[in-house]
Amino acid sequence: MKYILAPSILAADFKCLEKQMKMTEESGAEYLHFDVMDGMFVPSISFGMPVLKSIRNATDQVMDVHLMIQEPIRYVEEFAKAGADIITVHLEACSDVQKTIEKIRDCGKKAAISICPETPAAELAPYLEMVDMILIMSVHPGFGGQKFIPDSLQKIRDVKAMVEEKNVKTDIEVDGGIYTTNVEDVLDAGANVIVAGSAVFGGDPAANTKAMMEILKKY
Ligand code: DX5
Ligand code: ZN
Repeated sequence: MKYILAPSILAADFKCLEKQMKMTEESGAEYLHFDVMDGMFVPSISFGMPVLKSIRNATDQVMDVHLMIQEPIRYVEEFAKAGADIITVHLEACSDVQKTIEKIRDCGKKAAISICPETPAAELAPYLEMVDMILIMSVHPGFGGQKFIPDSLQKIRDVKAMVEEKNVKTDIEVDGGIYTTNVEDVLDAGANVIVAGSAVFGGDPAANTKAMMEILKKY
């Protein structure tokens, strides 16, 4: 199993984004997590295709695009063209989850589905074999800098058990409120892709990435 850090640029300093991205890349973060918010599925608005297109060639990191938007199928093609490598959609936001996953695959991208804290893990069951990754939200999506919801640990264990039972190689990503102080709990529960916004970009992104990577390397 590969353990990967995905710094969320939602918490970056946008006036020097390229420099900050590079710092995380050079310090070992293989993914870059790109949070798209539409002001409908979640209360806030972040950034979209033009920003992705512009930063795509500034890094070799895998672009891990997290779509927190209603009916994401409408925008899958555009995000694929703008440079996404992995496209994550919310189960709660899709009227037809399977069709949305197929659309991502048709665009030649890796597909992932995410669930909010109030959605039970069991709802993922029909889709486990169709996706490359499951994203478990450990905060209510919409804002960076929130507190990790402790019940998420049991949900990670449940999803890990489902993945093992089906004998599939689905990655388990966890997003929200993760710091060096609790990342080991998240990894011990069964996650292998860690999203971190404030923990990486709050302060020195190079030093913070290295500190996280030191822990991930132990797994
Ligand atoms: C929340 C976003 C997260 C967020 C994580 O809706 O999906 O990716 O940026 O930020 P932290 O690590 O600060 O909780
Ligand atoms: Zn996210």
